[in-house]
Amino acid sequence: LEINLKHGRQGDWPEIVELYKLVAKNKGGLARGQDEISWEYVTTFLRKSEKTGLSLIATDGLTVVGEIHAYKLEPMVFSHVLSELTIAIHPDFQGKGIGRILFSAFLEEIISHRPDILRVELIARESNKKAIQFYETLGFRQEGRYEQRIDRGDGTFEADIPMAWLRK
Ligand SMILES: CC(C)(COP(=O)(O)OP(=O)(O)OC[C@H]1O[C@@H](n2cnc3c(N)ncnc32)[C@H](O)[C@@H]1OP(=O)(O)O)[C@@H](O)C(=O)NCCC(=O)NCCS
Repeated sequence: LEINLKHGRQGDWPEIVELYKLVAKNKGGLARGQDEISWEYVTTFLRKSEKTGLSLIATDGLTVVGEIHAYKLEPMVFSHVLSELTIAIHPDFQGKGIGRILFSAFLEEIISHRPDILRVELIARESNKKAIQFYETLGFRQEGRYEQRIDRGDGTFEADIPMAWLRK
């Protein structure tokens, strides 16, 4: 499996929409359900990421198998922060090391080429242990817990865990 990484460009948008729909089908990962992944949602985060943040995609030469992005919130006091980070790996390609390759490249790009970024933040639901452990190995630290923030859809709620990576 040969993985190529590149910046997400407009020509990739349709494939990225399809990727997010596929990934959202499996509950417990992304916050959005499949019916909440629209062209509008995806192109809005890609546009913001291109303008103020970063979007990287992984392909196997043919198909887009993963995407990661984050962008700056509008208030100037947050202009050193990348927020709303989301990473999605194609279900058929999860657990093969692609998420780690993609996320490491994302942080490397920030370390080397984005001195304006001092902090990267994300939120993961508490039950997504695999993701939380993974982010810790990349240098993210848990910063607390948002109690009962996630509606599990069955009358119960779970905590959302805010995490951040800080430039050394
Ligand atoms: C979470 C996600 C991004 C990880 O990407 P991936 O390509 O599947 O993960 P990798 O194969 O690169 O593994 C990265 C690490 O995750 C952990 N991991 C992977 N699969 C795991 C599993 N089945 N069980 C436990 N931990 C696992 C390991 O710590 C692994 O570290 P390693 O490199 O030392 O083995 C991906 O699975 C995904 O898109 N999931 C659905 C959407 C989602 O949950 N997004 C994040 C929302 S916060």
